[in-house]
Amino acid sequence: MLLLGSSAAGEQTAQLSQDFTALTNGLFAVPIRWPWTTYGKALKARDRLLDHISQVIQDRIAHPGADALSLLVQSIDEDGDRLSLEEIKVQALLMLFAGHETTTSMLSSLVMVLAQHPEVLAKARQEQLELAQTGALSLSQLKQMPYLEQILKEVERLFPPVGGGFRGVVKALSFNGYQVPAGWQALYRIDAAHKDERCFSNPATFDPDRFSPERAEQKRFEFSLVGFGGGPRICLGLAFAQMEMKIVAALLLRKHRWELLPQQDLSLSAIPTLHPKSGLRVRFGDL
Ligand code: HEM
Repeated sequence: MLLLGSSAAGEQTAQLSQDFTALTNGLFAVPIRWPWTTYGKALKARDRLLDHISQVIQDRIAHPGADALSLLVQSIDEDGDRLSLEEIKVQALLMLFAGHETTTSMLSSLVMVLAQHPEVLAKARQEQLELAQTGALSLSQLKQMPYLEQILKEVERLFPPVGGGFRGVVKALSFNGYQVPAGWQALYRIDAAHKDERCFSNPATFDPDRFSPERAEQKRFEFSLVGFGGGPRICLGLAFAQMEMKIVAALLLRKHRWELLPQQDLSLSAIPTLHPKSGLRVRFGDL
């Protein structure tokens, strides 16, 4: 909605969502392009998504709105150049793609871990119910949820949706006795940093209070909490994703209770983004 300004509903949204899942699955698949392989299905899904985005772009050129895509199609740089249709298409797909599975993964982990830690859930609910007495959820309320922020940081730490990222090595370096030549690709592991005992005490334990102002464990070392990456290429959607997750979490805590259904395999699989192996089956009800 915010990016494409599209209010695609029902069937179309479900198809777009399925296409994103198929595209993400293809990221780590064996690159064989037959129509029935994971990779082949991912390419087909990508083409459908690009077709959809193309149609929306044509529409935004004709009728610009307040969404990010309308800004992109209208933007002109200091030399008077515009982005080409092809550039806008791939940028739009990148942003939709980067934000889709990641946010879904982290919100699922949040729902799972709160159901497993009723004392944390009760404290988070208390914070929300007190805020709700001052009015409906608003931008200013979003800035007054320190405990929910601690929980979201702990979910980012213990359940990072993305396992790592690549960096091109521009200058030869030596690290832990290894020589890494220029021109190589180095993979930084997000989950390894989050489980490092030098950074976080009892790293396997779910403990949102490690991010309280008194303990602030993330401040022991720079780049220890890196669920959104770090440095100049840090996640472009960081602020948006954090706000989106806070809104969903706040509304869930204010209005709903939930429980995990029995007989499901909650062990985690990291590919394409972190998720319980059998998905997550939850029963939601009203408070
Ligand atoms: C929980 C949600 C999200 C997580 C955990 C996440 C995580 C990440 C990570 C780990 C990176 C790599 C950063 C690096 O290499 O240092 C990244 C990059 C990126 N993310 Fe996110 N992301 C999330 C949501 C979003 C959303 C909602 C958007 C778009 C609206 C988005 C757009 C991007 C883009 C465009 C990049 C590439 C930035 C660049 O290379 O300069 N992400 N994200």
